[in-house]
Amino acid sequence: MNIDEISNVLIVGAGAMGQQIGFQCAMSGYNVTLYDVETKYLDNAMKRIVHLSDAFVKHGRLSSEAAQAAVGRIRCTSDPADAAKNADFISESVPEDPELKARVFAQFNELCPSHTIFTTNTSTLMPSMFAEATGRPDRFAAFHFHDIQVTQVVDIMPHPGTSPETVATIQAFAERIGQIAILLQKENIGYVFNAMLTELLRAAQALASNAVASVEDVDRAWMGIMHTPSGPFGIMDSIGLDTVWKVTDYWAQKRKDPLALNNAAFMKRYVAAGRLGIKTGQGFYRYPKPAFMESGFLEGRIAPEVSAEINLKAS
Ligand SMILES: NC(=O)c1ccc[n+]([C@@H]2O[C@H](COP(=O)([O-])OP(=O)(O)OC[C@H]3O[C@@H](n4cnc5c(N)ncnc54)[C@H](O)[C@@H]3O)[C@@H](O)[C@H]2O)c1
Repeated sequence: MNIDEISNVLIVGAGAMGQQIGFQCAMSGYNVTLYDVETKYLDNAMKRIVHLSDAFVKHGRLSSEAAQAAVGRIRCTSDPADAAKNADFISESVPEDPELKARVFAQFNELCPSHTIFTTNTSTLMPSMFAEATGRPDRFAAFHFHDIQVTQVVDIMPHPGTSPETVATIQAFAERIGQIAILLQKENIGYVFNAMLTELLRAAQALASNAVASVEDVDRAWMGIMHTPSGPFGIMDSIGLDTVWKVTDYWAQKRKDPLALNNAAFMKRYVAAGRLGIKTGQGFYRYPKPAFMESGFLEGRIAPEVSAEINLKAS
């Protein structure tokens, strides 16, 4: 499949990531179909895409005409056959469950033209886990996005059966939609950036859960030396502590790793208390004005009433 033959992109799963990827493709001139299991999810997705396009206009990244045109290139359907019929390229963003992903790809393999390239936006799984289920392993790879509002970096991760032509087409497609592609030479859990980030978060969790240093001091150390606007715990709040906990717990259980199990138990206390991070207004910090954004945080001059009470004790 040649890059010039791609005009219709199908997004399978119109949640947080499907919306962003769909909008990114539409901004770059592709016809985008958003598919989800129920109309209510699609209605919500279109609302959020309009918000996203407004934000791009507000920040001068897109003219209002271009934003309107991009939104106009997106159509929605909850009928899988209708979604699949003209698809040249699929980007899948259904929940992070290998069995679900396998089922969804098998379903679309029956419905899509034979030339359609299949990609998965999985965060933590490997494409080889469901490559056979796609029915077209040679035309399948992971193509992983981060938040399009903050970065253009994407990962391309083939599995051993992905054809070199497919890799080349995905690389060309990434370029056409304005992304900086990192091509992995082999499968790796967490790709490149997330592999590094996971180790940072794991070390930060261990420092706090073993009471070596407070959450705030861990962040102060990182921010003070690396000159970043947030530290590992601020980053976890923005990812969502439920997501961080799920990923930590999944691998901890799978590997029976005592350090990771301890970290998962530490994270679970926040999740059980409904403190999921920015999205619920409180995680390790309180939002919208977290302590780490206050002046004086680095110097340790934040009054206790400004700083969230951080260390949720084990029950
Ligand atoms: N959220 C992130 O920051 C992020 C970043 C990179 C990658 N990812 C990955 O992207 C994928 C999606 O994550 P998300 O955060 O967008 O999840 P989400 O829960 O926001 O969205 C998932 C969507 O898939 C839909 N869905 C469920 N079953 C379906 C099916 N059978 N067919 C079609 N649609 C179905 C749901 O209705 C929902 O709208 C996951 O694999 C995740 O690991 C997430």
